Amino acid sequence: MPYNLLQGKKGIIFGALNDQSIAWKIAEKCYEEGAQIVLTNAPIAMRMGEINKLAERCGNAPVIAADVTNNEDLKNLLQKSMEHFGGPVDFILHSVGMSMNMRKNNSYTDLNYDFTHKTLDISALSLHRILQLAFHMDAISEWGSVIALTYIAAQRVFPDYNEMADAKALLESITRSFGYQYALKKKVRINTVSQSPTRTTAGSGVKGFEGFIRYAEKMSPLGNASAEDCANYCVTLFSDLTKMVTMQNLFHDGGFSFTGVSREVIEQMEK
Ligand SMILES: NC(=O)c1ccc[n+]([C@@H]2O[C@H](COP(=O)([O-])OP(=O)(O)OC[C@H]3O[C@@H](n4cnc5c(N)ncnc54)[C@H](O)[C@@H]3O)[C@@H](O)[C@H]2O)c1
Repeated sequence: MPYNLLQGKKGIIFGALNDQSIAWKIAEKCYEEGAQIVLTNAPIAMRMGEINKLAERCGNAPVIAADVTNNEDLKNLLQKSMEHFGGPVDFILHSVGMSMNMRKNNSYTDLNYDFTHKTLDISALSLHRILQLAFHMDAISEWGSVIALTYIAAQRVFPDYNEMADAKALLESITRSFGYQYALKKKVRINTVSQSPTRTTAGSGVKGFEGFIRYAEKMSPLGNASAEDCANYCVTLFSDLTKMVTMQNLFHDGGFSFTGVSREVIEQMEK
């Protein structure tokens, strides 16, 4: 049952690739809660055509291609979105990540640095690019809300998360640093949501993902948080009910982050 928490709000959603994407569920939920949205993804991802189905489901939302490593693309996206909405946006979701090292099975001790630069650019610096452009173009309204999705490998070692762990640490740092600046300028709040492992195209690219998702399920007293749960949480963070929350890394993981060990894991070890 919708609560109309985002009635009258306008936002940009990055990163809906297919109906498994966390951004896909967030876009649907934002629309259901009364928001108008613009969808965006990399030009290459657009070719799959899936995003047009989502656009239809979200009141024929405009779809504007933008590679997050390209300033001109991002400037065009912000400009077109403001023209469409007739003013600045109220929220932005950054749900973007990519590692060529993972795709090529390069381990953390054998990184290809060209790939690593790409990972950092796409998965972390892109948040700075979006915020810096929005800051100077005045593209986010007062008390607006920005969320980037992250993972706990930014704080603790998950060996097969590879250089994405470093990218997430940078993403969370940019969230704090820009969160400070944007709060002073326009009371815009910026947070990361640290989500449970979730079966998506990006998620399944992590080596040993199936074993890991089962381990996380056993280590989380509430179980793993689904993409739909994440969408509900993000709606609250885009809404006016969480106005004073900024510069935070917010764990959305069923309690995983603060569980040292669970009974189920101990029982498993005693077998
Ligand atoms: N799936 C998980 O287990 C999990 C857990 C925690 C956090 N996250 C984070 O959630 C976010 C979304 O990932 P997902 O799991 O929904 O997978 P996904 O593969 O559906 O989404 C990743 C998105 O990034 C986009 N992207 C890649 N390169 C881009 C570029 N150059 N320009 C614009 N967009 C680009 C892809 O097209 C895709 O839409 C990522 O930041 C990911 O790290 C995922």
